[in-house]
Amino acid sequence: MFSLAGRIALISGAGQSVGEGISKVLARQGAAVIVNDLYAERAEKVAAAIVEEGNVAVASAFDVTDFDSTLEHVRAAEKELGGHVDIVVNNAGVAEGRVIKPFRELSPEEWRAPIDLNIFGAMNCIKVALDGMCDAGWGRVVQISSGSARTGQNINQSMYATGKSGIEGFIRHLAAETGQYGVTANIVALGHQKNLEDKMSPEMIEQILRTIPIGRLGDPIEVGAFCAYLASNEAGGLTGQTMDFNGGSQTR
Ligand SMILES: NC(=O)c1ccc[n+]([C@@H]2O[C@H](COP(=O)([O-])OP(=O)(O)OC[C@H]3O[C@@H](n4cnc5c(N)ncnc54)[C@H](O)[C@@H]3O)[C@@H](O)[C@H]2O)c1
Repeated sequence: MFSLAGRIALISGAGQSVGEGISKVLARQGAAVIVNDLYAERAEKVAAAIVEEGNVAVASAFDVTDFDSTLEHVRAAEKELGGHVDIVVNNAGVAEGRVIKPFRELSPEEWRAPIDLNIFGAMNCIKVALDGMCDAGWGRVVQISSGSARTGQNINQSMYATGKSGIEGFIRHLAAETGQYGVTANIVALGHQKNLEDKMSPEMIEQILRTIPIGRLGDPIEVGAFCAYLASNEAGGLTGQTMDFNGGSQTR
């Protein structure tokens, strides 16, 4: 069950953390993985680790917000792997130089980056793969989102949440349009992940843990396992859904 043998998967922002976990699990399930990241060295490190495990991966460094570059790099990777992208996991979502400020303090120039990445970056990756999926009568889109898309939070991340909400709306419409071609599209809304331990004080982590019933932060390999299910044949009946993957947190 849940074999991805013979599939090609494009994972964006996969050079570390959550995307790294997703890439490793999809490759373990048999997919040939295109490991994308903005930074070549990150993508290459993850692709090399996958190959070391005896699975198939190619590194592909490009900026997903640039449509022409996305198209060029995905076509090159497809040529190398000898097929078309069957599975897109849009994981890139934390913009470079993330700005953390209340909306009152943001200038209009600062609104753009998280929206570009979370909406247009995700759409670019889908766009370059969608015809191939529809023509083949099989495809999977998994959109990584966040609970912040559907709740108001006083965390100075209104533009990030705007990008996530926007792409969630798009994915629901995409699912409705492409179900007839055997292409599903679902949203995984993550809660707090392990890599926050590197970014926050132990006191802040303690505070967060009190809001998570399982009492721990999210694990990229577990997120990967859920994505592998959503990308499998067996998940063909599930589309257009938003699923919280957050240790049972009610605060999202
Ligand atoms: N970490 C969390 O607690 C958390 C919580 C909720 C949702 N999420 C979501 O999970 C996803 C992964 O988050 P993470 O914490 O692993 O991120 P991360 O910042 O650790 O890693 C993301 C990777 O994306 C790459 N990237 C950034 N911009 C890119 C671009 N334009 N093109 C290609 N690659 C690009 C970065 O170089 C980086 O290697 C994101 O969509 C994020 O919004 C994370």
